[in-house]
Amino acid sequence: MRSDQIVSNLIVLDHPLIQHKLTYIRNKNTGTKEFRELVDEVAGLMAFEITRDLPLEEISVETPVTTAKTKTLSGKKIGLIPILRAGLGMVDGILRMIPAAKVGHVGLYRDPQTLKPVEYYIKLPSDIEERELIVIDPMLATGGSANDAIHSLKKRGATNIKLMCLVGAPEGVKVIQDEHPDVDIYLAALDECLNDHGYIVPGLGDAGDRLFGTK
Ligand code: PRP
Ligand code: URA
Repeated sequence: MRSDQIVSNLIVLDHPLIQHKLTYIRNKNTGTKEFRELVDEVAGLMAFEITRDLPLEEISVETPVTTAKTKTLSGKKIGLIPILRAGLGMVDGILRMIPAAKVGHVGLYRDPQTLKPVEYYIKLPSDIEERELIVIDPMLATGGSANDAIHSLKKRGATNIKLMCLVGAPEGVKVIQDEHPDVDIYLAALDECLNDHGYIVPGLGDAGDRLFGTK
């Protein structure tokens, strides 16, 4: 029996390893190197859950002992779509689990005054309509960035999209649930709220700055 908390299309992954590592990610005294390593590790762990429904097919292999009927992935195509910049920090961890995935990029930054996303770059695999796309970003705050990225993908033909973030605020979850009821949301933690600057509380601060050592 899975212990993950599932509410509608929101899945919060409460695996002990994920929760343990997230504690260090949240700690303001965790430096850039360790922060980056931990985000990478948690992304890899979350990949197990997000790929749980990948289709399998049965094949035969010769073991040293006999012929075994066994399972292999049936070739479903996956696309990872990190939202720049901070989403980049989660790509390698997932790619270690799904090395054949293609990677597209959506460049968005959140205007610090309006908190609205501004798109500055998009480059996607040519066949996104055939792929299961996983939009990745450590933070789901107001939901503006993820919402914008998902609209951009749908406008270009994507029909099968999941969203994977480390930490989400209820406000951002609601935006995605209202705008994209077809998109399952995977979080390592659902936090309390947003503060006046649109930061997640308790959160982990500015994910991009902490990943890349900028300020
Ligand atoms: C952060 C974060 C998300 C966005 C979340 O990016 O990585 O993309 O904010 O906030 P929202 O849900 O309110 O849109 P930021 O704009 O700081 O850019 P960066 O990744 O380049 O640091
Ligand atoms: N973006 C971040 O990096 N952190 C937050 O808490 C909110 C938006």
